[in-house]
Amino acid sequence: MTATDDDRIALQARDVRFDFSGLRTDWIPGEPLASHVIDVLHMLLPEGERWFVEVFSQALPLVRDAALAEDVRGFIGQEAVHAESHQGAQDHLIDAGIDVSGYVEQIEWIFSDLLGERGLTGAEAREWLVERVGLIAAVEHFTAVLGEWILHSPDLDAAGADAEMLDMLRWHGAEEVEHRSVAHDLYMHLDGRYLRRIRAMLIGGPALAKLWTDGTAVLCARDPRLRGTPQRRVRLRDYLRAARRGLVPGPGMFAKAVLTYLNPRFHPARYGDTDAAIAYLAVSPAARRAGGTA
Ligand SMILES: [Fe+2]
Ligand SMILES: [Fe+2]
Repeated sequence: MTATDDDRIALQARDVRFDFSGLRTDWIPGEPLASHVIDVLHMLLPEGERWFVEVFSQALPLVRDAALAEDVRGFIGQEAVHAESHQGAQDHLIDAGIDVSGYVEQIEWIFSDLLGERGLTGAEAREWLVERVGLIAAVEHFTAVLGEWILHSPDLDAAGADAEMLDMLRWHGAEEVEHRSVAHDLYMHLDGRYLRRIRAMLIGGPALAKLWTDGTAVLCARDPRLRGTPQRRVRLRDYLRAARRGLVPGPGMFAKAVLTYLNPRFHPARYGDTDAAIAYLAVSPAARRAGGTA
């Protein structure tokens, strides 16, 4: 199954800008742990989404379907802007005195070295490319699920979360929901083997969980505002409490996402609410300021 013509929307990159100059490190007021759980995205995504762009740009010439090729180009445009927007948020964390070096260098190593080019040619190069597209399809299932979550997270509004950061996360989340089928469709077009798709999830899922846990610990330990406080150390029960209060995605959501992905008939179009994504993009302050395409 691929997205039907009825589901298909022309993916556009929006030339958004965000101003984080006044952002507090606990941008969910009084909730540094919940703020930093979400802030991990600003350390993972700049490198991660640039890598998506690189891999998809290499895959594009292999696509033998005009509509899919158009989707892949739209995906590339959107992910490039996502990476730069999260880079802006990461720069703000650094300006706020949080030393993210070491952790960010590890992320750079993962995407540039471990998952980068290997100087392969011919069939080997194609296999490595398809392997990475499969990994991106698995990660894109999580970004779609996270996008769906952030679009329906009224507890963040009720907690007084910073409006600029919320708009950035919801604009990004809405575009993730919009383009949630593209990586899966590309993988199915190039290869489509079930076991390879599942292997990608079984590698990508735990790797993401480990990076997220480590990233949260780094941010809390190095946030100058938390110096000398017990919140410097991340405790599982505090995370679970924040999740129960709707401030961060809970572990059950991720577990369900993995189980959904294991279904041999899985297709992202069956999950997620495109209408809600489009509705948010119509009112997003940043998207409205951006007007046309990037
Ligand atoms: Fe993205
Ligand atoms: Fe994405």
